[in-house]
Amino acid sequence: MALLEVQDLHTFYGSIEALKGISFQVDEGEIVALLGSNGAGKTTTLRSISGLERARSGSVRFAGQEIQRTAAHRIVQLGLGHVPEGRRIFVNLTVEENLMLGGYLLRRTPHEVQLRRDEVFERLPRLLERRHQLAGTLSGGEQQMLAIGRALITRPRLLALDEPSMGLAPILVQAIFHTIAEIRKSGTAILLVEQNARQALRLADRGYVLETGSIVLQDDAKALAENRRVQAAYLGGEPEVAL
Ligand SMILES: Nc1ncnc2c1ncn2[C@@H]1O[C@H](COP(=O)(O)OP(=O)(O)OP(=O)(O)O)[C@@H](O)[C@H]1O
Ligand SMILES: [Mg+2]
Repeated sequence: MALLEVQDLHTFYGSIEALKGISFQVDEGEIVALLGSNGAGKTTTLRSISGLERARSGSVRFAGQEIQRTAAHRIVQLGLGHVPEGRRIFVNLTVEENLMLGGYLLRRTPHEVQLRRDEVFERLPRLLERRHQLAGTLSGGEQQMLAIGRALITRPRLLALDEPSMGLAPILVQAIFHTIAEIRKSGTAILLVEQNARQALRLADRGYVLETGSIVLQDDAKALAENRRVQAAYLGGEPEVAL
């Protein structure tokens, strides 16, 4: 059984249909890449499964339960974490305070939240070094680590990441991809939205390509990386085949 199963999901902004009936799944422990150009609907997809947008119709099943009408905080509690586009950390709070907020969302006891905080510090030692620093003064890569840490404190079974490498220097991009690989090793499944398609497909098991609200391709990551349409549109290949 799939951990996440999305079926025929339609999401509108007013009269604009941003998702035109998409279906995809993520299995336990998998990394699945979601590729697509600007405006294709990648962020809308993540927001629709994590309860931040309400799909008009379709089904989202997570760990066997229908969550399409479930409140966002409840979806987090069920084990679906979301690191939003643009990080959305609290710049005037410290690193540690940002992390703890992620834990309190779960309504755990302070002791439990501290345990989980320490678990995150162990996985992301850079955050431990900077625990008392205001989040707004972190570098871009550190802010992304913090956004990931804040989601990890909820111990998600599935982590949805929206463009985690955006705006980062190449060396930090490597660090973020390394972190994602480590998170998967710990058993967390990952749904990865990335502009950096080449890296994403190297890391992922499978992938989907979204174009103007519809899934137009799906395959093993390796096959997608070798696909001429994908190469032309997303991997900087010869643009002779338009997608
Ligand atoms: N709040 C909103 N109100 C109206 N339209 C929106 C809203 N958010 C997104 N859209 C539209 O929905 C479509 C999908 O947007 P979405 O943000 O999901 O794309 P994306 O694939 O994440 O793009 P990008 O790569 O630029 O982040 C776009 O046409 C966008 O303009
Ligand atoms: Mg987006």
